Amino acid sequence: MSLLTNLTRAWLTRSWEPFTFKNEYDKILPYSECNNLWLYIHIPFCKSICNFCPYCKVRYEKDICNDYIDCLIKEIHLVGNQHKCKKKTTSLYFGGGTPALAVDRIKEIIDAIKEHFIITEGIWLELHPDNVKKDILKKLKEAGVTKISIGIQSFQNKYQNVLGRKPIDIDSLKAVLNEVKFETVSMDFIFALPTQTFEDLKSDLNTAFEIWANHIAIYPFIDFTFTTSKVKGLSKKQKRELLDKITLYLLNKGCKRDSIWTFSNDHHARYSSMTRDNFLGFGCSATTLLEHQFKINTFSIKEYCKRIDSGELATSLTIRFSLRQRMIYYLFWTAYSMKVSSKDFEEFFGVKLEKMYGFELKIAKLLWYIKEKNGVYEMTLKWAFYYHYYENFYTLSYIDKMWWIMRKEAFPKKIEL
Ligand SMILES: C[S@@+](CC[C@H](N)C(=O)[O-])C[C@H]1O[C@@H](n2cnc3c(N)ncnc32)[C@H](O)[C@@H]1O
Ligand code: SF4
Repeated sequence: MSLLTNLTRAWLTRSWEPFTFKNEYDKILPYSECNNLWLYIHIPFCKSICNFCPYCKVRYEKDICNDYIDCLIKEIHLVGNQHKCKKKTTSLYFGGGTPALAVDRIKEIIDAIKEHFIITEGIWLELHPDNVKKDILKKLKEAGVTKISIGIQSFQNKYQNVLGRKPIDIDSLKAVLNEVKFETVSMDFIFALPTQTFEDLKSDLNTAFEIWANHIAIYPFIDFTFTTSKVKGLSKKQKRELLDKITLYLLNKGCKRDSIWTFSNDHHARYSSMTRDNFLGFGCSATTLLEHQFKINTFSIKEYCKRIDSGELATSLTIRFSLRQRMIYYLFWTAYSMKVSSKDFEEFFGVKLEKMYGFELKIAKLLWYIKEKNGVYEMTLKWAFYYHYYENFYTLSYIDKMWWIMRKEAFPKKIEL
C-alpha cells in the first residue's frame, strides 16, 4: 500500500488504524433497523470466462449451479428468518457471473426473497448479450425482473476482439428488446481500450439508444493484477479527454448523469446500484454493508455451500467500523451518485456533515470540485473526473488486493488495508 493511500486514509479517518477485516462474523445480522436497504444476489457461473474480468465466477456446470442455488435459497431463509417482520428494501439486484444461466430458478429465488423482504423499486438482472433471447427475457419478466443490464462492452468487432469476446448481433438484440420490454434497459461499455477514440465510443452509445437502451454505464478499463488480460488501457490524459468529451456529448444530447459512470435518457430508467446506504448480499463473494460493519462472503463455491448446509453464514471477513471509517464508506459510496446531501448524512449519523468534514468541504468548494445548493454538495465535471480516477486507484489499491487474497484463501485470518 502506498504512503499516499495510508496518509489519505489516516487523514480522512483521523486515525492511523487501517481498515482491518477479520475472520469472524455476527450470527444475527442487525439489518432490521437499517433504512434504505438494498439486496444483492451473486450467481457465479459463465459459459466462457473473459480474461479481463475480476469477478468471482467459474465455468457453468448445470449440477453445480443447481446445488449452488439450493444453498442460495437456504442462505436467504437463514438471514430472512433472523427477524420476524418483513423488511422493506429498495431494489434487488442479480449480478454475476451470468445470472440468466439459471433462468429457470430465478422465480424461486425471488419468491424466497419475498417471504422476508418487500421490494419497492424493482428487480435488476445482469445479462450477457448471448442471453438476450425472447424465451429467456419472457421467463425473467414473468419471474418479476423489471430492469436488465446487458454487458455489451463494445459493438465494434475490433474491441470485442481486444477483449476476447464474440461479435454482437445488433439486429437480433434490437428485435428481441423491441418485443420484450423492460422498465430499464441498461447497457455496459468498457472504455479507454487501446486506440479507442471518442468517435468509436459515441457511435457505440448512439447504437445503444437506437436499440432500446434507456440507460448506459461506461466503465474505464481496469487492469486487475490477478487477471490474465494483456490489454493495457489508454493513459490517464487520454482517458480524461475521452471521459470529458463523452460526458459533454451525452449531456448536450439531453441525457441525465445519474451516477459517476451512468447516464439515462428517460426518467423511468432510474439507476439503482451500489449507491445505497446499506445492503445485504447473498451468495459467494457477496458483500453486506450495515450501520457498523461491512462483511464479505467466501469466494469458494464449495466452502460457501458447506457453511450454508451446516446452517451457518458463509461470511469470510468482517470489518467493524470506527465512526469516521463508516463516514468515509458512506461518503465514498454516496459520491457515486455525484452528490451528497447534508440532511441525509445527518439523518444517518446524527451529526452534521459540516461539523465532521467542514475543512475538506471548504477546500473542495474553493477548488471548484464541488458546488453547494440548499445543503446538497454536487460534484463539478472536474471533480467527477478525479473521482473516476480515484475510484480506479481505490479499486487497484484496495479491491484488487482483497480479491487477490480471497480467490486464493476461502477464509483468510485477517486483511489490513
Ligand atoms: C458481471 S459483468 C456483466 C454481465 C455479463 N456477465 C457479461 O459479461 O456480459 C459486469 C460488468 O463489469 C464490467 N467489467 C468487467 N471487467 C472489467 C474490467 N476489467 N474493467 C472495467 N470494467 C469491467 C463490464 O462492463 C461488465 O459488463
Ligand atoms: S465479463 Fe461477464 S461473461 Fe465474462 S467472465 Fe465476467 S461475468 Fe463472465
